[in-house]
Amino acid sequence: MHPDLDRIVLTEQQIQDRITEIGADISRDYGDESVLLIAVLRGASLFIADLARRITSPVEIDFMAVSSYGSSRQSSGVVRIIKDLEELIEGRHVLVVEDILDTGLTLKYLLKNLASRKPATLEVVTLLSKEDKQRVPISCRYVGFSVPDEFVVGYGLDYAERYRNLPYIGVLKPEIYSG
Ligand code: PRP
Repeated sequence: MHPDLDRIVLTEQQIQDRITEIGADISRDYGDESVLLIAVLRGASLFIADLARRITSPVEIDFMAVSSYGSSRQSSGVVRIIKDLEELIEGRHVLVVEDILDTGLTLKYLLKNLASRKPATLEVVTLLSKEDKQRVPISCRYVGFSVPDEFVVGYGLDYAERYRNLPYIGVLKPEIYSG
């Protein structure tokens, strides 16, 4: 385990097993229909890479980058698109891929924005959900795990851009971010 962590919350095996299950669910639901996976950079980049390889339906991949105004640890709900999609999504089956649903403010904005482009369907898959934290209700079709409201890092999740490359997810020691 990385020395900056208090404990591991999800092991690499648990994460990969769950992604295999979600991939099977998505493949069953979309069948032979083409699905456009849209990952929200940067945290979801690891998840989308593993998830896409577990889906047997035809898959296309696109990326968006957004930035929240205000302090980086608290979503303000005011979101700016830094990088928009390359693809047009009108009439497409769109599945937004997120690493973590926290307050829900980022997804609320994104879903409203994407819905205005008239996709055929618009769904969300998130690896992690902090259930108690959601300020706005977001309906996620696929959720990997519920996690406690602690400072989790790894598998795409960062603190000051570090720890994204850990293959597992763990709780950061408080002295790392409060010191
Ligand atoms: C994280 C995460 C979601 C958002 C969730 O991104 O990837 O996009 O926060 O928070 P919310 O539900 O409270 O809106 P972050 O802004 O940390 O960017 P990153 O993916 O580049 O680390």
